[in-house]
Amino acid sequence: MNPVKVGLLGLGTVGGGTVNVLKRNAEEIARRAGRGIEIVHAAARDLNKPRICDTDGIQLTTDPNEVVNNPEIEIVIELIGGDGLALEMVNKAIEQGKHVVTANKALIAKHGNDIFAKAQQKGVMVAFEAAVAGGIPIIKAIREGLAGNQIQWLAGIINGTGNFILTEMKDKGRDFDDVLKEAQALGYAEADPTFDVEGIDAAHKLTILASIAFGIPLQFEKTFTEGITTITREDVAYAEELGYRIKHLGVARRTDKGFELRVHPTLIPERRLIANVDGVMNAVLVMGDAVGPTLYYGAGAGAEPTASAVVGDVVDVVRALTSDPENRVPHLAFQADSLANDPILSMDDVETAYYLRMSVQDKPGVMAKVASILAESDISIEAIIQKEPVEDDAFANIIMLTHRVVEKQMNAAIAKIEALDTINGAVKRIRMESLDAK
Ligand code: NDP
Ligand code: HSE
Repeated sequence: MNPVKVGLLGLGTVGGGTVNVLKRNAEEIARRAGRGIEIVHAAARDLNKPRICDTDGIQLTTDPNEVVNNPEIEIVIELIGGDGLALEMVNKAIEQGKHVVTANKALIAKHGNDIFAKAQQKGVMVAFEAAVAGGIPIIKAIREGLAGNQIQWLAGIINGTGNFILTEMKDKGRDFDDVLKEAQALGYAEADPTFDVEGIDAAHKLTILASIAFGIPLQFEKTFTEGITTITREDVAYAEELGYRIKHLGVARRTDKGFELRVHPTLIPERRLIANVDGVMNAVLVMGDAVGPTLYYGAGAGAEPTASAVVGDVVDVVRALTSDPENRVPHLAFQADSLANDPILSMDDVETAYYLRMSVQDKPGVMAKVASILAESDISIEAIIQKEPVEDDAFANIIMLTHRVVEKQMNAAIAKIEALDTINGAVKRIRMESLDAK
């Protein structure tokens, strides 16, 4: 049988990795797919740029339209990024009846509902394994492997750049900006790295995970996002003293009132495996009612780990080329006409535990006053430490861990604490999750 001809949009970190993996493992891949897979046409902005891959035998162009319009091509791999040109090219490929493979989480999280509807009409596949957690096959695991479960919650370290920064800050005391520059040089960061550090990239990924876990439409605009730029070495050290690690976590949870979808820095007990996932590695913890907790771990970014997921998708598409479109695995794991429309909860209604740090006047009765505000607000304290002021400083640090409480209740209590004239500045608040098997 003739090889399947594939078009590639983008020859950067992931595009270059994809060419390398497809070439190096061509024979093994053909044995799996039942046919050879050949990239015949590829687009990049600058054809004179040095590449991490060998492009011999691939027709090159600066115009992605030429690739999409090439009549030989059955599968288009989109690795340009963003939701401008990439969206235009993906829509064009679908309109022409071509299958699409993409690593673009922004595209899927923001436009996936529309893209999948168009793809279904045209009977083509749109595969996006590489869009979440780099090389970890987490989409397939949830969509297919856990299809017998009601998923109760999932929590993941789903941005490699952010985890790399937090790890280097904790282990080596390095500066935030310095580590971010290294992550960019290694090809981990997004074109706009604020997407990594402000949690937007993780929110794109969480949006996708929640849809396939719960059978709800993609709702990126309702996902709460808080970044890691306000995390200080001081907080990391206090958390450690209390037996916790701070990780930038995406959490999606089913509750009686609706779904929680949130990305924020989170204290996790250090004894949890996921608390020990460091560097560019990602991990996703999924709680199914039948299977219990399952944990998926691997490289969350980088050329070949991400290419592994892209090529896995291409093989899946090739295997299903001749199958009846009605009988393929649905894009979002649930049949498109069976998606649920339960609400996404506002952060005010989310329940979680908290780490609080405040700077207080070093005199008797201050700690008691803070504790009484929390007690009046029905918030119980799990642990508390007070740090003596350094030398002549008039202020001491108090660090508290609380039990679970609804966020609006905590916000009201924090406002009362900040109004005390013995408190210096704002109360630092970091959410905390035990991630136990509930
Ligand atoms: P890069 O910036 O390294 O690559 C983007 C590629 O697109 C480049 O080859 C660039 O050309 C090409 N391109 C951009 N604009 C045009 C244009 N107008 N016409 C033709 N070609 C164009 O990005 P990455 O490989 O890092 O990321 C690609 C996608 O994969 C993104 O959606 C990203 O979010 C996602 N992703 C990235 C991961 C990673 O680890 N980097 C991991 C998982 C997903 P040129 O090289 O000439 O500039
Ligand atoms: N910028 C992303 C990250 C790439 O660091 O996780 C992988 O999606």
